[in-house]
Amino acid sequence: MDLFFDRHRRLRTSDNIRAMVRETHLHTEDLIYPLFVLEEDGKRNAVKSMPGVHQVSLDYLDAEIDEVVNLGIRSIILFGVPKEKDEVGTEAYQQEGIVQRATRQIKANHPDLVVVADTCLCQYTSHGHCGVIKNQYVDNDATLPLLVQTAVTQAEAGADIIAPSNMMDGFVAAIRDGLDQAGYEHIPVMSYAVKYASAFYGPFRDAAHSTPQFGDRKTYQMDPANRLEAQREAESDVEEGADFLIVKPALSYLDIMRELKDRYPLPIVAYNVSGEYSLIKAAAANGWVDEREIVLEKLTSMKRAGADLIITYFAKDVAKWLNKG
Ligand code: PBG
Repeated sequence: MDLFFDRHRRLRTSDNIRAMVRETHLHTEDLIYPLFVLEEDGKRNAVKSMPGVHQVSLDYLDAEIDEVVNLGIRSIILFGVPKEKDEVGTEAYQQEGIVQRATRQIKANHPDLVVVADTCLCQYTSHGHCGVIKNQYVDNDATLPLLVQTAVTQAEAGADIIAPSNMMDGFVAAIRDGLDQAGYEHIPVMSYAVKYASAFYGPFRDAAHSTPQFGDRKTYQMDPANRLEAQREAESDVEEGADFLIVKPALSYLDIMRELKDRYPLPIVAYNVSGEYSLIKAAAANGWVDEREIVLEKLTSMKRAGADLIITYFAKDVAKWLNKG
């Protein structure tokens, strides 16, 4: 044969050679595990639409955290499921709020575990929106001080990172300023910089009881069709002082992740959201896909797209698989 062509397959001939030329690696340190803390006693409720995920009350929290820590996971992100809701999400910004109490409890036993506090109002408002409502519209500037109070009480409770997720304009600037004034200038802000109005959040709203009671979130979360708008959102957050940038959801937005990674010298975080989790769980339960293979492929693709960290409900499973080699 007199043809010239490249022999790409030379670098694929064995496990060891493939491992030597592998460009992207997934590590347990990359993972952030989301936890739903429930303001009730003696409950560990399975979330129906998210097999393997539970809402846990404070009396079950220590066992859950021990498991996470023993698996080598270094970080969790906390979502509160409060007992009481009202128009202005009062329970989000109380020293005795569920996330604040959970944070104190966790840090008392595991001071090294990095606790990320999700800073939003939707689980705490009676209408399920992420801010204060005026004339059926989420009022941006009236919401900011409540987010600041939420962030400061979370920092007081011992949260290591504040993660504002409600997509109000100026939320990073307001929270950065509030934290600084309260003496928490060392606490980083992990901003949900680019958050799309996504159908992939369905199962989460079930887990967090945060479905909007009227309308949708499209006046604050982004249109999935937009790419340049993601650049503008990220740029504002960087200017306002964000330390990490989250892209959410992950899988349908890998292009956006790559663009942010190329443009900003900040850690990029992929949020592998509830719908992305549940689709795989459902298919795997039917025996249609190999869960382990498909999860590792998907998370690896997020890292390849530029994510440094991944928030994922699969974190415990992945840690187990990686620990086994
Ligand atoms: C809102 C919030 C959402 C998620 C976490 N916080 C989205 C929403 O309900 O609009 C979704 C996370 C997931 O789907 O896993 N503050």
